[in-house]
Amino acid sequence: MLTRRIDTVEEAAKILREGGLVAFPTETVFGLGVDATNATAVEKLFLAKGRPSDNPLIVHVGEVGRWSQAASELTPAAQALLDAFAPGPITVVLPKQDRICSRVSAGLKTVGLRIPHHSLTQEILRRADIPIAAPSANRSGRPSGTTWQAVLEDLDGRIDAVFCEDSIRIGIESTVIDCCGAVPVLLRPGAITLEQIRQVVPTAQQLMTGSNTPMPAGADQVTSPGLLHPHYQPRAKVRLVAAPPLDANQLDQQVAYCGMESFPGMEGLGLVAHYTSLEAFAAGFYEFLREADRRAIATIFVQLAPDYGIGRALLDRQRRAASD
Ligand code: TXA
Ligand code: MG
Repeated sequence: MLTRRIDTVEEAAKILREGGLVAFPTETVFGLGVDATNATAVEKLFLAKGRPSDNPLIVHVGEVGRWSQAASELTPAAQALLDAFAPGPITVVLPKQDRICSRVSAGLKTVGLRIPHHSLTQEILRRADIPIAAPSANRSGRPSGTTWQAVLEDLDGRIDAVFCEDSIRIGIESTVIDCCGAVPVLLRPGAITLEQIRQVVPTAQQLMTGSNTPMPAGADQVTSPGLLHPHYQPRAKVRLVAAPPLDANQLDQQVAYCGMESFPGMEGLGLVAHYTSLEAFAAGFYEFLREADRRAIATIFVQLAPDYGIGRALLDRQRRAASD
C-alpha cells in the first residue's frame, strides 16, 4: 500500500469517510484515525498497528455537542468533566453507542470519548462528520509518534495517508477517566491531572494496581485492558535515574541521557537532551527515545520526572518505557 503524504482537511476527511486509515496530529500525540462504525476498516487498523485485539480504541468527535455519535449516555460526572476540560486532552469512558463497532471497544459495553482541542483535528473530525476511532499512530508497543516522520517510520506502507504537519503541543496521551460507575476512576494519567479533576468531581479516584493496593469502593469492576500490554518501548535499554549519571568514564557514544539536569561530561555521550521545563521534557520524551534508536544507542539514562503536574503522566510513561 502506498501511504500518501497529505496536507488538506478535505483529503483527510474523504479518506476517512471511504474507510481508509489516516494519521493526523492532535494536541497530545499523532492519532491513527478510522471510521469507528466501519468494522472492515477498524480491522485494518488493528492489523496496521499490530495491536492486541483486547485493547479498545478511543473514539473522537469534532465538538462536545456531538458526544452521542460515540456514547449512548452522558453520566453526570462525564458531563461535569467535559464542561470543564473539553475540548482538550481528556478521554471519558462512557456507555457505548450501538453504532460503534464492538471491535473498537474490544467487546466492552463502554467507549472512550475524546474531543481534541487542536483546531486542525477538529476541522478533520467535523468535515468527516463520523465518529473516528484513533489510537496513537505507532506500531503497538513502540513510543507514540509526535512527528509525522516518526509515524512513517512505523507505519509507511501500512496506512492510507499521513497528514504532514508537526504541531503536537503536549506530547503525552490524554488523561483517561472511567465515568460509568458511582466513582469516576482515573485509568491513565495525562495533562489533565487528578487534582484538577477532583476540583470538578471530588470523589474521583486513581486506579489502583498491584496486590497491596485495594480498589476504591464502587470501582471493583473497572479495568483498562491497555494497561496490561507493553508500551512506549524503544529498542535501547531504558534506565531510570533520580540524578544524572556523573561518572563520565562509564559513558560513551553508545549511551544517551535525557532529563532536566545537566552534568559534567555529558557532551561525550551519543545523544543528550537537557530540558529547561517539565512541559518541554514531556513534549520531547517520545521523540528522544526514537532518536536514540535511529542512532543505535544501547542504553538510555532517563531522569525521573517529578511527581506533580504533567510530570506524573511523564513518570508513568517513563516507567513503562523502562519495564521488561
Ligand atoms: O491522546 C490520546 O488519547 C491519543 C490521541 C490520538 O487522541 N490516543 C491514544 O489512544 O492514546 P491509545 O489507543 O493509544 O490509548 C487508548 C487508551 C488505552 O490504554 C485503552 O486501553 C484505553 O485508552 N481505553 C480505550 N477505551 C477504553 C474503555 N472503553 N475502557 C477502558 N479503557 C479504554
Ligand atoms: Mg497508544
